[in-house]
Amino acid sequence: MAREYDLKPAPSAGEAGVASISSSINRRQFLRYGFNTATGVLAASLGVLGFASILLPPGGSSEGELGVKFWAKGREDEAWYGAKHEQLMTRQDFVDEAAKSNTGTSGASGIWNGVPVVVTYVTHSEYAASPTSNGKARFQFTEGVDETGKTIGHFEDLSDADPRLLPSDNLVMIFGRCTHLCCIPGWQLVSNSFTEDSWTPGGGDDGGTKLFCICHSSRFDPTVLEMNTNRNRSNGSTFKYAGIRKAGGPAPVGLPIIPVVLNGDVIEGIVDYLDWYTYCD
Ligand code: FES
Repeated sequence: MAREYDLKPAPSAGEAGVASISSSINRRQFLRYGFNTATGVLAASLGVLGFASILLPPGGSSEGELGVKFWAKGREDEAWYGAKHEQLMTRQDFVDEAAKSNTGTSGASGIWNGVPVVVTYVTHSEYAASPTSNGKARFQFTEGVDETGKTIGHFEDLSDADPRLLPSDNLVMIFGRCTHLCCIPGWQLVSNSFTEDSWTPGGGDDGGTKLFCICHSSRFDPTVLEMNTNRNRSNGSTFKYAGIRKAGGPAPVGLPIIPVVLNGDVIEGIVDYLDWYTYCD
């Protein structure tokens, strides 16, 4: 029997574009309805970045859509992927952009089956064996802590059980809702010291290359992968997940990773960890 995931029912369930499904969702429903129980809430809260205007269609077929699309609404003229708005993301898009970066990184906001995401590329395999002092970013796999600072486990405890959680072809996709109050952090949405094209190892708050949440300035380091813990707001249960590190600001913990796979060169998300996205109302 398909596994069920508890979600808050959308307050606007029944309105156009919002699927009328119950307070739980399974893998098949996710594919079919594009996570619309959550997106009813997303649409109400994401206006600052233009998500409010999105009409999220049900999946185009019974299999839904696993491909990740660029989302640059309102930033078509400034984001490097502005001309690619709503086009499927390919790995080559990120490789080409990272080649222009001092740190060998690139990132973009996206939409995946109705879910806001941020995809980042790190030229990890090329630079992992070179000194970190060269400023070239690479992934680090570490212990993680809960909101009290207590160590809860290592990223590799999770990736050993499911290697798909490791970066795929230097790519990491992140669920795009802040663990503070559920705004949408982004890649270089604003220009400041946290988002500049620089990198320092260790997952501290120095250096740039952070995802930045403009609501209350939380910062997340997409190069530091760790274990995190959070709470399902519908049923109060606590879950552990693979995430990227919270480097600073009021967010209590890091952001969940959505494992990806390449279909040809198109980036697709894997839908096996839906319970990781249940901490927002
Ligand atoms: S919602 Fe992101 S910092 Fe408050």
